[in-house]
Amino acid sequence: MNIQRDPGPQLGTQHSVGKALPHESATLHVTGTAAYTDDLPELTGTLHGALGLASIAHGRVVRMELDAVRAYPGVIAVIMASDIPGANNCGVVIHDEPILADHDIQFYGQPLFAVAARSHDAARRAARLAKIEYESLPAILEMDEAIAAQSWVLPPADMKRGDAVAALASAPRRLSGFAKVGGQEHFYLEGQVAFAVPRPDDSMHVYCSTQHPTEMQHLVAQALGWRSHQVSVECRRLGGGFGGKESQSGQWACLAALLAWQTGHPVKLRLDRDDDMTATGKRHPFQCHWEAGFDDTGLLHGLKLELASNCGFSADLSGPVNDRALCHLDNAYYLDAVAIRSLRCKTNTVSATAFRGFGGPQGMFMIESIMDEVARHLGLDPLSVRLRNLYGAGARGVTHYGMQVEDNILPQLLEQLVESSAYHARRKAIATFNANNAVIKRGLALTPVKFGISFNATLFNQAGAVVMVYADGTVLVTHGGTEMGQGLYTKIRQIVAEVFGLPVTDIRFTSTDTSRVPNTSATAASSGADINGQAVHAAAMTVRGRLAELAAQIAHCQPDDVIFADGRVYAPDFSEDFADLTRRAYAARVQLWSDGYYRTPKIHWDPATRTGRPFFYFAYGAAVSEVAIDTLTGEMKLLRADILHDVGRSINPALDTGQIEGGFIQGMGWLTSEELCWQQHGAHRGRLNTHAPSTYKIPTGFDVPDIFNVALFEGENLEESIYRSKAVGEPPLMLALSVFFAVRDAVAAACGPNSRPPLTAPATPEAILRAIAAGQERA
Ligand code: MTE
Ligand code: MOS
Repeated sequence: MNIQRDPGPQLGTQHSVGKALPHESATLHVTGTAAYTDDLPELTGTLHGALGLASIAHGRVVRMELDAVRAYPGVIAVIMASDIPGANNCGVVIHDEPILADHDIQFYGQPLFAVAARSHDAARRAARLAKIEYESLPAILEMDEAIAAQSWVLPPADMKRGDAVAALASAPRRLSGFAKVGGQEHFYLEGQVAFAVPRPDDSMHVYCSTQHPTEMQHLVAQALGWRSHQVSVECRRLGGGFGGKESQSGQWACLAALLAWQTGHPVKLRLDRDDDMTATGKRHPFQCHWEAGFDDTGLLHGLKLELASNCGFSADLSGPVNDRALCHLDNAYYLDAVAIRSLRCKTNTVSATAFRGFGGPQGMFMIESIMDEVARHLGLDPLSVRLRNLYGAGARGVTHYGMQVEDNILPQLLEQLVESSAYHARRKAIATFNANNAVIKRGLALTPVKFGISFNATLFNQAGAVVMVYADGTVLVTHGGTEMGQGLYTKIRQIVAEVFGLPVTDIRFTSTDTSRVPNTSATAASSGADINGQAVHAAAMTVRGRLAELAAQIAHCQPDDVIFADGRVYAPDFSEDFADLTRRAYAARVQLWSDGYYRTPKIHWDPATRTGRPFFYFAYGAAVSEVAIDTLTGEMKLLRADILHDVGRSINPALDTGQIEGGFIQGMGWLTSEELCWQQHGAHRGRLNTHAPSTYKIPTGFDVPDIFNVALFEGENLEESIYRSKAVGEPPLMLALSVFFAVRDAVAAACGPNSRPPLTAPATPEAILRAIAAGQERA
């Protein structure tokens, strides 16, 4: 058939997917007009919540006297654990976490009661008037104490392949060591906040800054003793989540809802920064005792590890976080015979939770420490040991949990980065610099990233969406994912615009709402765009199919011959505006909206044996970092970073580059300047002393290196992901491992040849000075 096309404008030149479009709310962000939960107009009678927090780490409440709190002017209600009509629980996997502590106190800062008052200020002042008597019990703060006491939130677990003991025994060389990495506060700029609005007929609507509206819906319903359909939860955007609003937003959503239920008024609960930092979970600190067997080239033969994490007082997401750590202990390396014991320590600290990378960064930190140690022991450049151990083809391409690494692009990616960053020339220049400078030492490191994409638990890998086309040709989209600054809505908009051949400005969103799309998964595991993008694509394609059929009837052609581009619809001898066709479709009683659903294919996981294919695919990347340290003050500066990162075929290169830069700098903060300090002695043992920006140091714009080369690796996803893109949310954080190992390289230069300085993470100035002192003593 000879198709005569309307010449019209050049077809398909206005692609949306692949374009570096700005974030959909960029203008609102920079003009300060983007509405977050706390910015929503308050309804008449809105009350404000505040919390009463425990001031011991472990023990019992003997007496709680709240009369003065209740009597404070403006106070309308005070609730305790006994006032909760439903389940006093906000634990999401295991129900081991109370919304309000009953009598048993398990960490310093645990919420004991909540106040609702006419103003935020009154609520806070009233909360301080409580008189509480405690009976203290010994508190466990550190992993070693928990291990000695066999104190676990979940039983120890094992992951193994081959015979590690035999491989260690027969290896030409052996080395053992210990590595430790700290936790991390999320420091989302918008703190935890929920605004609960009672509605008629025993129902409640909750606006909440959360990555997981459906979980909030479940927890609120359970706390009220209600069922899911009585509660709806809505979120248009979060001012950052980073994993800290996946499960951790639950407690505040529940408390706002409970206070609203108790008073019959709308209640807003917005934590101030100190309470937020004290009472919400953070990244898990991890430590690892390891023993490695290898040959003279650094090729690993066998590995035995005891990997412990500090989970805090409750299980929260610690099971999946530790499983992800186990699945990322290999990072980019083939581990032939390996045995890992995983200890999930229960301590009297706030419950550790999801944080960008979800245990992956901590697992990778351990294997990178081993690579670095082995190389220094052998007197080799750590890069050569890393390259020596990379995944290969066939049997050398199977992970220790049994998944084939199918598109192993790392050898090629690393070669490109070594070249573009002039790694070898700079290695030499740095050696010369260090030989000529006694006080300032420089260091260099290249580290790779291989990160598995999908939720480890198979069931969460599903998503839903609704695409509504109005008769005038405009489009409204809703889906289960949440927007936290990462650009999910922007990518969704590009996908819908691409399907209909419309400009992105014709596509608008509703906020994410459990009453629009039900049973959603958390926007987490970097899979937001992957799974919601597919669901939205499916919904849009259904509507487009119906429109194509209508156009085909008019043009007497096949639906496949109909093209949607440039805001118009084209068929042989036929062309009209998209809006004209949608008006026609409405008149012809064609359904102009559809739902869409997606579940990730190919994945499976056996939790009993810890084997399977938990990930749909891997995202890769690598970074070269160069630092300078001052050996007298411990100061550190990142001088230059070169990053080459794999996002498959990018849906939006501007957003992806932003995620890479932001993730890298956030990872650098975790590994260099952000340190959580808990009071070790005295009556306030267990108190988080770094509970404000005055004492907790996140990186700023000034810490971004002067030379910061970020490039996207050319390629596409082997798997049929949305437009062959790859997830980008979490993997770049782990590129920052290169900063830590560059610091270690500089410290080693200060300590002398082949030294293995005991640098702990975060590599704060204090840690750097300690490592130099210890390293020089050893040498
Ligand atoms: N980027 C911004 N700006 N803010 C955030 O809170 N969270 C990160 C990452 N990038 C985050 C972010 C985390 S922890 C995840 S899992 C992903 O975004 C979630 O979004 P995605 O799945 O749509 O990438
Ligand atoms: Mo991200 S830690 O999976 O929310």
